[in-house]
Amino acid sequence: MQDNWTTRERNTMQDTWTTVDTYIYDVFETPDPQLEAALKSAEEAGLPPISVAPNQGKLLSILAMSLQAHSILEIGTLGGYSTIWLARSLPHDGKLLSLEVNPKHAEVARANIERAGLSGIVEIQVGAALDTLQKLVLDGHAPFDLVFIDADKENYPGYLEWTLKLVHKGSLIIADNIVRNGAVADATSPDMNVSAVRRFNAALAAEPRLAATVYQSVSIKGYDGMALAYVVSD
Ligand code: SAH
Ligand code: DHB
Ligand code: MG
Repeated sequence: MQDNWTTRERNTMQDTWTTVDTYIYDVFETPDPQLEAALKSAEEAGLPPISVAPNQGKLLSILAMSLQAHSILEIGTLGGYSTIWLARSLPHDGKLLSLEVNPKHAEVARANIERAGLSGIVEIQVGAALDTLQKLVLDGHAPFDLVFIDADKENYPGYLEWTLKLVHKGSLIIADNIVRNGAVADATSPDMNVSAVRRFNAALAAEPRLAATVYQSVSIKGYDGMALAYVVSD
């Protein structure tokens, strides 16, 4: 991805971000065999290493706990790493539905969720998320308290359209990978992921039901950021 830094500058910055993320992990987390096994099994199965960073997973769970969320929708499961963080923040009668197009990813995730003791709370639906979302709306599915959008970036604008039909006043919508090494600020970017994320942000900003912003972040995963949108009216 293009940015304004030399490789040397980027490596230096990334070293610092990684050092600080490691520090944060050491201060705030204790060894977590279930989360560690989830990452290891995803790697062994050849899944791409694009789960959220540990402190981003923690942030997601803190936000879910703050909302006292009972129902969570996740779009993009991968190996279930963010799923586990989010599902752990739910009460015992809570529900998390995660949408994943790749059956192999879903299979890896199901094993990780089972190992984490969360099979009773988490359901993974395999299929293109736009189709599943449409079906949820047509079936009159109850609104979700929190929606985490983290699948293919080109469909983010479409995911937002459906998500808005599946939330209520007080829900929180979170979307990963919005800043993209700073490329999000480039209106002329030929990268379809960038243009889609820009359309997504414009739609968030234009939606009167939402109070929204984007929070930039650096982490072990690089320079990126999440959009946060609070649903202020039904
Ligand atoms: N949320 C995960 C990472 C998700 S990576 C975590 O942080 O742990 C993105 C996932 O979205 C991949 O598993 C990919 O297969 C899935 N995906 C891509 N296109 C999709 C689509 N159209 N519908 C549903 N899932 C999709
Ligand atoms: C990609 C997807 C993600 O959800 C992420 O956090 C990082 C990278 C990707 O598709 O490259
Ligand atoms: Mg992501």
